[in-house]
Amino acid sequence: MKASEIRRQFLTYFESKGHAIVASSPVIPGDDPTLLFTNAGMNQFKDVFLGFDKRAYSRATTAQKCIRAGGKHNDLENVGYTARHHTFFEMLGNFSFGDYFKKDAIAYAWELLTTVFRLPADKLWVTVYAEDDEAYEIWNRQVGVPAERIVRIGDNKGARYASDNFWMMGDTGPCGPCTEIFYDHGPEIPGGPPGSPDEDGDRYIEIWNNVFMQFNRTEDGVMHPLPKPSVDTGMGLERIAAVLQGVHSNYEIDTFVALLAAAKAEVDAAGSGGCDPDSPSLKVIADHIRACTFVVVDGVIPSNAGRGYVLRRITRRAIRHGYKLGARRPFFHKLVGALVEQMGEAYPELRQHQQRAVEVLRLEEEGFFRTIAHGMEILEAALAGGATSIDGETAFKLHDTYGFPLDLTADVCRERGVSVDEAGFEAAMGRQREQARAAGKFKMAAGLAYGGPETRFQGYERLVQDDAQVVALYVDGSPVDEAPAGSDVVVVLDQTPFYAESGGQVGDTGELRNAVTRVLVEDTVKVQAAVSGHQGRVVEGTLRVGDRVGARVDAERRARTVRNHSATHLMHKALREVLGPHVQQKGSLVNAERTRFDFAHHAPMTEAQLREVEARVNAEILANADTQARVMPIDEAQKLGAMMLFGEKYGSEVRVLDIGGSRELCGGTHVRRTGDIGLFKIVAESGVAAGIRRVEAVTGDNALAYLQSLEHTVQQAAASLKAAPAELPARVVQLQEQLRALERELVAAKGRLASAQGDELAAAAVEVQGIRVLAARLDGADAKTLRDTLDKLKDKLKTAAIVLAAVDGGRVQLAAGVTADSTARVKAGELVNFVAQQVGGKGGGKADMAMAGGSDAGKLDAALASVRGWVAERLG
Ligand code: ALA
Repeated sequence: MKASEIRRQFLTYFESKGHAIVASSPVIPGDDPTLLFTNAGMNQFKDVFLGFDKRAYSRATTAQKCIRAGGKHNDLENVGYTARHHTFFEMLGNFSFGDYFKKDAIAYAWELLTTVFRLPADKLWVTVYAEDDEAYEIWNRQVGVPAERIVRIGDNKGARYASDNFWMMGDTGPCGPCTEIFYDHGPEIPGGPPGSPDEDGDRYIEIWNNVFMQFNRTEDGVMHPLPKPSVDTGMGLERIAAVLQGVHSNYEIDTFVALLAAAKAEVDAAGSGGCDPDSPSLKVIADHIRACTFVVVDGVIPSNAGRGYVLRRITRRAIRHGYKLGARRPFFHKLVGALVEQMGEAYPELRQHQQRAVEVLRLEEEGFFRTIAHGMEILEAALAGGATSIDGETAFKLHDTYGFPLDLTADVCRERGVSVDEAGFEAAMGRQREQARAAGKFKMAAGLAYGGPETRFQGYERLVQDDAQVVALYVDGSPVDEAPAGSDVVVVLDQTPFYAESGGQVGDTGELRNAVTRVLVEDTVKVQAAVSGHQGRVVEGTLRVGDRVGARVDAERRARTVRNHSATHLMHKALREVLGPHVQQKGSLVNAERTRFDFAHHAPMTEAQLREVEARVNAEILANADTQARVMPIDEAQKLGAMMLFGEKYGSEVRVLDIGGSRELCGGTHVRRTGDIGLFKIVAESGVAAGIRRVEAVTGDNALAYLQSLEHTVQQAAASLKAAPAELPARVVQLQEQLRALERELVAAKGRLASAQGDELAAAAVEVQGIRVLAARLDGADAKTLRDTLDKLKDKLKTAAIVLAAVDGGRVQLAAGVTADSTARVKAGELVNFVAQQVGGKGGGKADMAMAGGSDAGKLDAALASVRGWVAERLG
């Protein structure tokens, strides 16, 4: 039965019992600040349970999209390690709002499972809340579940959540005792019944939780009875699908099989070439694409806080697993299509927002691919030489510089059995926050209490003003009359040549001084619209209100800034000419190093477009026209066709600036003639958000420095290849071809090796009751060679059960194969698992072919020796 059919049957069953079918709510809860993501079907009914909201129905049923990747219910760390955990899953539920209670809830659940879904009753176990005798009696007496399959479980004082038979949505909110139904996947799967020490295995899987909602827990921990006892149930669609489709892992159900195949195809295409189809990393990727896509579709974009950060963490974790398999280019966003194919029917919002989801994930992925290789190098270096833990500073550096969230670093470390110093990480993080706060305090010139005259800005004409007067002075945000040497101050002057940060142009730096006092100005910002604050430090003498000072702007820094600002205007015009009039400024930053310009445009710029923009701007520079600035009423500026920014507020008088062929409203400082810009060069083009591009460019001496450094790089590369710079591209292509040829040779050589070894090994097979049994080591072989050798041996031995093992860097890789004529007697999946367990691993797979891994190479020989006995026992 396909997952979609199970979903349909569940909803129809409860509809036939008088339940209204209600649509899933978004994964982002509407207005519930206590919840990061929708984590259960009952979330959308929280207020109904609490009695704050009334609905037209008292019984409801849903298939709800849930995310458990943050907050109280968090399964992120388990994904990839168990057969049953997901960051995103679908929860099937039925709800009673003060209507039926324990007896009916239990009867419905039992009828649906045993009659509609036809599960054998003896495969089902139940748990009840330790003190809930009523539920126990219903199960035992009315339903007839024998006492040995009913387990009483306590609430563990609320320390843990879902599995303790007292269910809570979070720290606060509706809650109550629950009864859970488990399915026994059979003795061949490791794990014990609920409540036993090895309950965490995959054998006994909780499939359905029935919560008897009776309380509202408030922040003080007090349980207030709900107005009416109610019912909230949740059955994971993926888990029940695994049961009904006869598989032991959620990842083998129909919807996941398709996603896993797509994940493998994209990871292979992105550089892995041919990853192991059974790799846990593929499961992580298939799981995470569901969570990430649904979260994006419901309106979140990756960021550094809150839901956006959870999204970023899940995305990057998935990317890292792809990287581990060999992907070296973005692949993750390409899986959205496969997901939409699987789930677009049930969740139409996926289809509606498919394009946006692809775009958002692609940008995030491209960003992370820029730093992941370096980050992994740092991490590998830290892990090298048998380290047992990663220090907090390294984890923080990975986080801060390479975009590795802490749990990503921990995920890598966990694979190697290494721990992470989380306390050290938090400490490093705290230190950085402290520094940022200290720097931020100094930026706080806005909001100062100032009631004096406006500042006369003289900085269009001059960079030095000899006779400025101090009209106000602030230390630590408060007005003072004087500030001695050593004080960090904000100074307001009656007139100044310093430009205060605005319109994307940074504030000026420089110096205020007279015969006895000197102030270093580190930034200039607006205290009010027309009042400038000079932020800096008194380094000599004492500065007093009323003092006369000379104000001198750092001329070189200003000149660089001005060149970049004027070039921005020329570039804006050239972009509109080259790309079209839809190009609209969305943000800009102009400082002494570069100009950064964001604008609306749907696609990355081509190289030809970039070169064309550069050519046009440089042509304007060579024309060396005078800049003209005029102040005029805004309607006159409009008539002159000056470019105005949408959404920007302008006064009634505006400054119209003509530079070359561009005409914009602008209060910034500019070159006198376009030729002053010197040279204009674009250095980067990228996407910053869906539909927004960013161009970065340099001018003047910065452009020269940039070109010189490029030339240096090219010369170095040419020198190491012993080629002339102009021959570089051809040489690189040649090298790549050589590399590919070598790779092909290597593959062929490994194949020859495998068949040679295959011939030798075949001789070692022993006959056990008509089947030829072989267990051997092929050290140094990779997974593919193991598989190829296995195939060859199967061909050779005809009727055989084979286990091959290889040890590489302490890890054991296992492959088992059984010829088609013998799979009824011996199963490769069981065989490989039998060996894997002895070497500290676990595995499984199909009857004719299965792979597994292990960590304890020391036990490998003994494990291989035991194969013959195991097969004999099977056959006997
Ligand atoms: N709300 C309950 C759960 O999520 C049914 O397990």
